[in-house]
Amino acid sequence: MCNVALPGPRNWRNSPFMNVTVRLRPLATTRADLIVLGTCEGSSGSRRPGSGLARGAQRAIAGVLEHGDFRGRAGEIVVLYPDRGRPRIVLVGLGPATALSAQRIRLAAGQAIRRARELGVRSVACDALGAEVLDPAVAAQATAEGLVLGHYRFGAYRTERGPAAVRSALVCARDAKPAPHLRPAVARGVAWAEAVCVARDLANTPGQDLVPDQLAARAREIGRAAGARVQVLGVPQMERLGMGGVLAVGRGSIHEPRFVVIDRPPSGRTARARDTVVVIGKGITFDTGGISLKPRENMHRMKMDMAGAAAVLGMFSALPALPFRLVGLIASAENMPGSRAFKPGDVIRALDGTTIEITNTDAEGRLVLADALGYARRFAPAAVVDLATLTGAVRLALGTRAAGLFTDDDALADELVAAGAATGERLWRLPCWDDYATDLRSDTADLVNSAGAEGAASLAAVFLKRFARGMRWAHLDIAGTASSTVETPLDPRGATGFGVRLLLEWLSRRASASVSPRP
Ligand code: BES
Ligand code: MN
Ligand code: ZN
Repeated sequence: MCNVALPGPRNWRNSPFMNVTVRLRPLATTRADLIVLGTCEGSSGSRRPGSGLARGAQRAIAGVLEHGDFRGRAGEIVVLYPDRGRPRIVLVGLGPATALSAQRIRLAAGQAIRRARELGVRSVACDALGAEVLDPAVAAQATAEGLVLGHYRFGAYRTERGPAAVRSALVCARDAKPAPHLRPAVARGVAWAEAVCVARDLANTPGQDLVPDQLAARAREIGRAAGARVQVLGVPQMERLGMGGVLAVGRGSIHEPRFVVIDRPPSGRTARARDTVVVIGKGITFDTGGISLKPRENMHRMKMDMAGAAAVLGMFSALPALPFRLVGLIASAENMPGSRAFKPGDVIRALDGTTIEITNTDAEGRLVLADALGYARRFAPAAVVDLATLTGAVRLALGTRAAGLFTDDDALADELVAAGAATGERLWRLPCWDDYATDLRSDTADLVNSAGAEGAASLAAVFLKRFARGMRWAHLDIAGTASSTVETPLDPRGATGFGVRLLLEWLSRRASASVSPRP
């Protein structure tokens, strides 16, 4: 294999995560450069922000509220400079208390930390935003998540440094005797959000520096640190197994494909050795479309076509103890045109023996996932979820605000939708009906890999369903949500890390569910 020397990223952890700690002291006693206070619309009396702060700070807050210059509406933010601005005070709006949600808190915390970064502030102390309205642990976790997510910046390839990073952020308790569950809630929020940043860094990394072997190397690091056994299959092993999908997609590239198995045993007192959950990530490190070449516009974004794999790795980087076995599968290839590349008209054989006529080499994700689903079967899993940037169609249908959820299993759908609602990563169910399968009939093989643009997201899902038969399975098409072209308080432009917290939430809920997940 020929490896050209390329300028690599300076380091993997290019956006040093803030050191967010919870201080079990009243907010008023911190010595931070900037204090962030959340305010619900129409707050007054004891709910008025800043009670307990120095007299000057209270006067400044009262002033801005009494003038009506700041009302606490969602998205509103104001910087105050009492006592010559030491510390500065930032008020962020949380909207009406009756409509307050964890996501609203995350957004407010993200907005505040961005402002702090722009101001060049080094240390921030933050109220557990909205803790007087929502469950304080939920509020504290959401605040910590918002701080870390909003602070993220992908700087690995920049020579200009941009606004300096905030050095530390504290999530403070209002009360002198804060509840003991506050500390783990903040720790969890920080860990989960840092896991999202791990996924963002991976997806933002240019294709030149993240070919399948490099993605596999990162998977090995992250998997081992999570206490998993990691196995990386190369071309000869995949040939022996008959993984015709991954091999076909990878054939046009000098960078060989890889298939990664990250296998973590159950732990804890309630370990249920029988149960296995499999999570699959599409890991196309660059998708040119292959011989069915993509148009030039926006092709550069296809460096993020491994966002599903990145989400799986992000998840592993912050995994709690789970009473069931968890297996991560990453199917990775670079989809390139070339003299060895697979071609339209070729027939390939997937791991389970199904033959597939290639009608479009740009419908490559489903080919590598077909092998991954075939591999998942050997674990007789209690549930399988795949995450994939699979179709442009889902981006057209749902935009960047929700990922497509495809499954025939209503219970699994409900679990995933509920987890996504809790983390602010919304899922919207789209059809996965067998009717679509007639479009996938081939004259030559068992089925074709692509049947045109109409209903393409559901067609792709129904294609996958064939390889998932007999398993409890759900497919998340994250082509719309994995990357953003506009900045929001939590998501910068580029990779969002969508799916990481959703998976962690879903697994945590499964772990604490008293009923066995098996039907
Ligand atoms: N990786 C793309 C899907 C994609 C598109 C992801 C836009 C993110 C943003 C996928 O491999 C692909 O090319 N899908 C085709 C399927 C078609 C050939 C049926 C598509 O969506 O055009
Ligand atoms: Mn493609
Ligand atoms: Zn793709």
